[in-house]
Amino acid sequence: MPPVIRSNQLAQVDGQEVTLQGWIYNRTHKGKLVFLLVRDGYGFVQCVAFQRDLDPELFEAIVRVPQESSVRISGVVRADKRAPGIPGGYEIGITGLEIVQSVEGEYPIALKEHGVDFLLDHRHLWIRVPSQWAILRVRATVIKAIRDWLDGNGFTLVDTPILTPAACEGTTTLFGTKYFDEGMAYLAQSGQLYNEADIFAFGKVYCFGPTFRAEKSKTRRHLTEFWMVEPEMAFCDLDQLMEMEEQFISHIVQTVLRDCRAELLSLGRDLTVLEKVVPPFPRISYDDAVKKLAEIRDRTDDPEQKALLTMEWGGDFGSPHETELTKLYDKPVFCYGYPSAVKAFYMEPWPGRPEVSKSVDLLAPEGYGEITGGSERISDPDLLLERIRQHDLPEDAFRWYIDLRRYGSVPHSGFGLGVERTVAWLCGIDHIRETIPYPRTINRVYP
Ligand code: 4AD
Ligand code: MG
Repeated sequence: MPPVIRSNQLAQVDGQEVTLQGWIYNRTHKGKLVFLLVRDGYGFVQCVAFQRDLDPELFEAIVRVPQESSVRISGVVRADKRAPGIPGGYEIGITGLEIVQSVEGEYPIALKEHGVDFLLDHRHLWIRVPSQWAILRVRATVIKAIRDWLDGNGFTLVDTPILTPAACEGTTTLFGTKYFDEGMAYLAQSGQLYNEADIFAFGKVYCFGPTFRAEKSKTRRHLTEFWMVEPEMAFCDLDQLMEMEEQFISHIVQTVLRDCRAELLSLGRDLTVLEKVVPPFPRISYDDAVKKLAEIRDRTDDPEQKALLTMEWGGDFGSPHETELTKLYDKPVFCYGYPSAVKAFYMEPWPGRPEVSKSVDLLAPEGYGEITGGSERISDPDLLLERIRQHDLPEDAFRWYIDLRRYGSVPHSGFGLGVERTVAWLCGIDHIRETIPYPRTINRVYP
């Protein structure tokens, strides 16, 4: 058997005879010519069989091999600009075929249009198709870029617990579970509170893991289980936080552009939009954003849009507001200084304006909206205790958290980046359920 190669390394073996191990994605038969589109995990390659070059038995096997059968194909690699595939541009002239398993019966996801519920019910098979494969490859690259940047910039990974005694982001979105004789435990909404303890030992830290929100949101931006990376830094104020964030986000985007070009192009993504994502990012205060939204509202004639965009100072932005704001910029935009009332209890108040928090969300362009949420944290123990009481949080569960402000308190800041929303934006897709291998939403836990 000729040497086994990966389909994304064909350029290095042009002209050589190789073996490709994979699965039959599609087959087209044109008289004496058969085209197999074969996927091997690294890409999709066109493999071609000419009847006149092959012995009849082999040609017959190629004509009949069913969709999704597992195969080892040997053949000669040749460059051909027209060859379809991901990345494409090379094809394999088949010299041999070994069928590892021939699929019997009908494959559930035949190559035709299917409804999204059907596809989600078959998610275990759906991930094989080019679009889903490409999205999940981008996801893996995003995660690697996140880790590489943080590991290379002085951050220590400190894991935070999933089973927790208290809420971080608000009590209405907790998944609870009875925990032996200790009462209730809750699935983590965020590792932030633990990150805040960890910076006093390590300076700059991050946690990265699954996060759970029992919110009854049925939008294209919400999952009940999603992955979040949360960097946290000691001796860091809100401005320094934004400076770090724009470096970090730009690194992720530029890495994906470099390492996932073929995947993005296969999804039809406009790369010029992503090429612009380099520091600095524009910054707009919540106050100015509210004014800008009022101007946009006054200019529109559409009564429905007018109603959607109407808001008073003090309210939180919904997705129509975020969408309009991001349309004003061709880069991600920082919106900072939200009213304290719409944000979490731990946020540092704006100096001289207690009704405003030192918070910042990063809104992705093209209407994608919030991909990170963060803030400077309260560093004074008395103010923190006051906030915990105001928010009706269980004081006892936060004893350790208040301690952090008693022993070496410093200004500190951090944020959380949602992996799925970031991937949806980079891939240019509508709904975040396709950006995680097995999505969990309020009406889905299968497969
Ligand atoms: O804005 P959030 O709720 O912030 C926090 O959890 C902070 N404790 C983070 C921190 O400062 N360490 O969530 C942060 C990000 C959002 O910007 C969004 O990208 C993502 O997490 N996110 C969700 N993604 C998918 N589905 C959901 N239900 C999400 N909720 C938040
Ligand atoms: Mg948020």
